[in-house]
Amino acid sequence: MLEVRDVDVFRGEAQVLWKVSMEVMRGEIVTVLGANGAGKTTLFETILGLHHPEGGKIQFLGQDITREPTYRIVRMGMACVPEGRRIFPEMTVQENLEMGAYAPAARRAMRESMDWVMDLFPVLRERKHQVAGTMSGGQQQMLAIGRALMSRPSMLLVDELSLGLAPVVTNEIYSAIRKLNSQGMTVLLIEQNAARTLRNSHRGYVLETGRIVLQGPSTDLLHNDHVKKAYLGG
Ligand SMILES: Nc1ncnc2c1ncn2[C@@H]1O[C@H](COP(=O)(O)OP(=O)(O)O)[C@@H](O)[C@H]1O
Ligand SMILES: [Mg+2]
Repeated sequence: MLEVRDVDVFRGEAQVLWKVSMEVMRGEIVTVLGANGAGKTTLFETILGLHHPEGGKIQFLGQDITREPTYRIVRMGMACVPEGRRIFPEMTVQENLEMGAYAPAARRAMRESMDWVMDLFPVLRERKHQVAGTMSGGQQQMLAIGRALMSRPSMLLVDELSLGLAPVVTNEIYSAIRKLNSQGMTVLLIEQNAARTLRNSHRGYVLETGRIVLQGPSTDLLHNDHVKKAYLGG
């Protein structure tokens, strides 16, 4: 569904991604693990057309999107939750969700989408009139994911889903991601939190200083010596 092939990306003078290749197949939850500064956000933004690679190619749904502008990629059905969530803090939960349904087709499905998202995250229903900025970090992350889903995407990209969140809330969000996936949603998770992400995904890649150094089924990565040492605290 998404294929990144031999991608080189520079930021300013510095090369940040080196011949990065990875793919996500329809119906999968795939994770890209990496420490701070590894290039995860750069990869996320490159997939979304915010950086244009110097070399390599990116395909989504069989189409070359390497040079496409972000709005076209989003319109093709890719929804994203950026690092730091970036919800509209002054707006209510419901207004934030409505903002996610701006495309005409999504707007027509708004009521149904709202129910779907609120079934997935019941706290958003309970708090639909609350000003979003007054909610907890975990609730804001649920809202950010919910808002992305309001566009009725075929694939969801999340950068640092669990950053700064308590384990209980993180688990709750991962359960929702798995439920979404069982309904057919394809998901790409870009994360520092190795143990949790690997337990909640099918396959994974390890990104170190801009290079993919390991890949495989998540259960294999969980038992890999290098992953254990570098990402799972020994
Ligand atoms: N705006 C920027 N301009 C230049 N270099 C940047 C910029 N943002 C990040 N970088 C560099 O790119 C590398 C990867 O950063 P990033 O993709 O944010 O990593 P991660 O998300 O894995 O923490 C780092 O070395 C970082 O210093
Ligand atoms: Mg990042």
